[in-house]
Amino acid sequence: MKIQSCSELQEFDDARFVKKNLYKGNGNVVFLLHLLPGQEIPAHTHPGKEVFLLGLQGRGSLWIGGEHHTLGCQDFVYCGDEDALRIYNDGKEGWVLYVVLAAKKEPEVEQAKKPIKRHPSLFPLSHHHHHALVMSRQLKQQKEEPAVLREKLKKFWNEGGQRHFREEEEILLPTYSRYASVERPEITEMLMEHVRIRGQVEEILEGEEEPSGKLLYNLGTLLESHVRKEERIVFPMMENYIPEEELSRLGELLADD
Ligand SMILES: [Fe+2]
Ligand SMILES: [Fe+2]
Repeated sequence: MKIQSCSELQEFDDARFVKKNLYKGNGNVVFLLHLLPGQEIPAHTHPGKEVFLLGLQGRGSLWIGGEHHTLGCQDFVYCGDEDALRIYNDGKEGWVLYVVLAAKKEPEVEQAKKPIKRHPSLFPLSHHHHHALVMSRQLKQQKEEPAVLREKLKKFWNEGGQRHFREEEEILLPTYSRYASVERPEITEMLMEHVRIRGQVEEILEGEEEPSGKLLYNLGTLLESHVRKEERIVFPMMENYIPEEELSRLGELLADD
């Protein structure tokens, strides 16, 4: 345990901003930033970290992913590791910010620790989830041109993606509905995400112009979180309610890739 007074650490310097660490360990850093009027921290990102900021004293400007915001005393901001962050004191007094850089947990690592046991009848759907995760990683990392990514998305969608969504809606959910209520937030969320994913895929595939990086990234993020939710929450729930003989019958109805 450690108790420390933030006011004791307060320090401004005419030459440049001052950073004072409160805590550092396990991939996390907590510190105070002190900026005099006119001082700035140029745009930068924090790969692998989640960023939390709280205004402690004074006010100033933040640009998060190019968007301008004013941060006053007691205002809180969160930004992800992909958001470029610029901090500039355009106020009239010293500006103090409390900052937490928290290490992001890699979902793959988390999953590797806890292998999910899947009923064999749902293997075809889980197998397709693997393709969806590969696609979502490509959309997020954007190592290829948007036009190339669009072609890959088209192939993914036409050669199984679309059919996978239909199988969940037309085979899996109706079977489940015979044994348990579909009026649950997990199912509503799953279906709403299907609608949003379909909408975003259409926007990318049918757009006249090349898709923007943001559009591709957003789809990648949504697709990834959707698949993980199904694997960790929805499918275990289905396996729990659908009787064994019905699960076996389901396996025969699902496409095998
Ligand atoms: Fe789904
Ligand atoms: Fe799915």
